[in-house]
Amino acid sequence: MIRNPSRRDFLKTGLAASAVLMVGTKASRANQGPQLFEKSSMGSLELPNRFIKSSTWSGTGDKKGNVTDLTLRFYNEVARGGVGLILTGNQIVMTNGMSSPYSIGNYDDSQSEGLRKLADSIHKEGCKVVAQISHSLARSNPALFIAEGDELWGVSAVPYASGSPIPKEMTRNEIARVVDAFTAAAVRSHKCGFDGVMLHGAHGYGLNQFLSPAWNRRGDSYGGSLRNRYRVVEEILEATKGALGPDFPILFKINTQDFVSGGIEPPEALKIAQRLEDNGIAAIQVSACCPISEENKHCPKDEILEKKDEGYLLDFSQYLKDSVKAPIIAVGGIRSLSTAEGALKDGKADYISMARPLIREPNLINQWKNGNTANAKCISCNGCFETGLQGLGISCKIERMLKEQQES
Ligand SMILES: Cc1cc2nc3c(=O)[nH]c(=O)nc-3n(C[C@H](O)[C@H](O)[C@H](O)COP(=O)(O)O)c2cc1C
Ligand code: SF4
Repeated sequence: MIRNPSRRDFLKTGLAASAVLMVGTKASRANQGPQLFEKSSMGSLELPNRFIKSSTWSGTGDKKGNVTDLTLRFYNEVARGGVGLILTGNQIVMTNGMSSPYSIGNYDDSQSEGLRKLADSIHKEGCKVVAQISHSLARSNPALFIAEGDELWGVSAVPYASGSPIPKEMTRNEIARVVDAFTAAAVRSHKCGFDGVMLHGAHGYGLNQFLSPAWNRRGDSYGGSLRNRYRVVEEILEATKGALGPDFPILFKINTQDFVSGGIEPPEALKIAQRLEDNGIAAIQVSACCPISEENKHCPKDEILEKKDEGYLLDFSQYLKDSVKAPIIAVGGIRSLSTAEGALKDGKADYISMARPLIREPNLINQWKNGNTANAKCISCNGCFETGLQGLGISCKIERMLKEQQES
């Protein structure tokens, strides 16, 4: 069982100390940083700018996880809005791996037609697309199992959260099936025209569970030391690169700190990032937290209403960027062009990603590019989940309320 710990604020100790040491180098990098609206390359992936739509479960799939017309409409609107790259919402790689209803699946070739339509419709707007692939493991919802005989699997027999069902600890054979499923999803994504894949290693999902001692209590070669906890990620990377070649872009979303008892802390996340780099990762998106993290550390964080609340994970992205050469993608509470520009200029990130602002205003990046530099209107209330849970696709609650008021 995972209990929230008393608050350990790493930022006030290790990160703050390293920030003081970095002041000199930061200053010398100012004004020389990459430009947000210029072309760039993330390994073999050429991008029209440095703005990225961060993954959002879209709540638009059918019961088996097939892409629907609603899915195509949701992504098409974002693709037209000016971001250079869309990271899709998490696509499940096995039938027992869904945590939220109406998720998109990438577990069977029968889903390829829809996935191909999705990639094509995004490309038509001049935008690139990377499929985020994931297995929720202990975070999966048994009510959403797709195939007969599906079981709740865990890295260990440790529930995702206090009160969640206890999963069955996977056998080594079952771990091999998970590795195969991730690899098959990557190969399918490539065949369907996606420009790369992102392994979801954050927010308490399956790969985060392997990496984190909070959930991983195994006594075999997949548990214990970081080397062992990282093994499954390495196996997926090796198998995928073996199948698709070394240049196929594989990105990783990392939890820099889990904010759960016994979870990953920044120094260990840095070691994971260095291993990812050694294994040829194309970019690392720097996240933290999960829905069961200690108070005020939930993901996605709410109430980002002032400049001082913005970019709540930027210190983490700087911490990894200072020691890792792989491109770093910032995420979390970026709401203004000035914060985005500052993050690049100060060497805190190479790319800027946003999720909720682009749900409320899909055209935000075009607006900024065209000189309307008003801050994002998103108030980070997380109301966008509501319509997704009804199978109607995520949408901005505030915009819906404003529309209703206008119509009444
Ligand atoms: C509705 C919704 C769905 C999300 N789904 C995913 C997901 O599928 N995969 C993922 O890595 N993050 C997911 N996130 C987290 C975002 O990618 C992002 O990390 C977080 O919202 C913070 O960024 P923001 O402040 O720009 O929204 C989701 C967030 C929201 C609001
Ligand atoms: S409901 Fe709208 S304002 Fe609230 S977090 Fe979602 S996009 Fe932002």
